[in-house]
Amino acid sequence: MRTQLFRSAQNALKKSSYGSATPLSTRAFSSSSSPERKVTILGAAGGIGQPLSLLMKTNPLVSTLSLFDLAGTPGVAADVSHIPTRAQVIGYDKYDDLDKALEGSDVVIIPAGVPRKPGMTRDDLFAINAGIVKGLVERIAKYCPNALINMISNPVNSTVPIAAEVLKNAGAYDPKRLFGVTTLDVLRAKAFYAQVAGIRPEGVLVPVVGGHAGKTILPLFSQATPQANLAGRDIEGLTRRTQDGGTEVVNAKAGKGSATLSMAFAGAVFADACLKGLNGVPDVVECSYVQSDITELPFFASKVRLGKNGVEEIMGLGSLSEYETKALEKLIPELKESIDKGIEFVKNASAKE
Ligand code: 2OP
Repeated sequence: MRTQLFRSAQNALKKSSYGSATPLSTRAFSSSSSPERKVTILGAAGGIGQPLSLLMKTNPLVSTLSLFDLAGTPGVAADVSHIPTRAQVIGYDKYDDLDKALEGSDVVIIPAGVPRKPGMTRDDLFAINAGIVKGLVERIAKYCPNALINMISNPVNSTVPIAAEVLKNAGAYDPKRLFGVTTLDVLRAKAFYAQVAGIRPEGVLVPVVGGHAGKTILPLFSQATPQANLAGRDIEGLTRRTQDGGTEVVNAKAGKGSATLSMAFAGAVFADACLKGLNGVPDVVECSYVQSDITELPFFASKVRLGKNGVEEIMGLGSLSEYETKALEKLIPELKESIDKGIEFVKNASAKE
């Protein structure tokens, strides 16, 4: 049974690069044939930023790695620059240098802001992170309006709509270029599913749709490959564990932050997919929270095909089980509230300016 499941997983992997979870791009290009690409990390010296800087330094698709944070960036830049890979690293630690950090960027990854402590939801971070994201995206609109933005700062359900409003106000909004990074939900769904199914996780594919907080995270285990036909109670347990994955780490870290290492890995996987899309690699598909019309909500996470201009195609939800259909209905009001909160924040801030 296990061998059979593993073999069909390997076949599924061969068909598409969806969810293949390697941030190293080894299958796509050798460094000599890939174009120059500048990747900027805003919040590069933080808990997620440091391991993310390390992983992006090892990505052969990156020719310039620009690291920005308000403290500690020169140290992180010096440290990763000793790794003998293609990317030239530059570190900036002054807000006034954001122009240099951002100019010419192809991809900007934003893990800036504060993490959760036990007992907090992602929405509890809104008061601090909303303003940080707004300020950074204003600079992106000015200095690299064509970059693909990979938003990691929480609450992603609101920070992506915030970024969209800021870009709209600056006349620089292209919905194809703005992404909420939900890759960690996909990685968790894969890891937990493989554990319960008793198979190796590498070949498992599980789409995760909705948003990136609690019950707005909806893993579609009915579409998982290989299909292990788990019992309903197992699926419910796996769904809850995926939804609470971030909280599991926050509690285990007991006040010392939230997921940093797995989040950095997820951020690197997603940025790698964006770079492959920009470089014209065919059939690059990842789940992401983007402007979407597949539900009544203006932003929604689903599988998206990435290409030379960012989002090439937003893929539909596919057929859902009864359990997933009900969970989808239930998540809509909460996700809508978070989206509206982000939009309102920018409107109110603009009214005051
Ligand atoms: C998580 O899911 C940090 O939001 C991130 O753990």
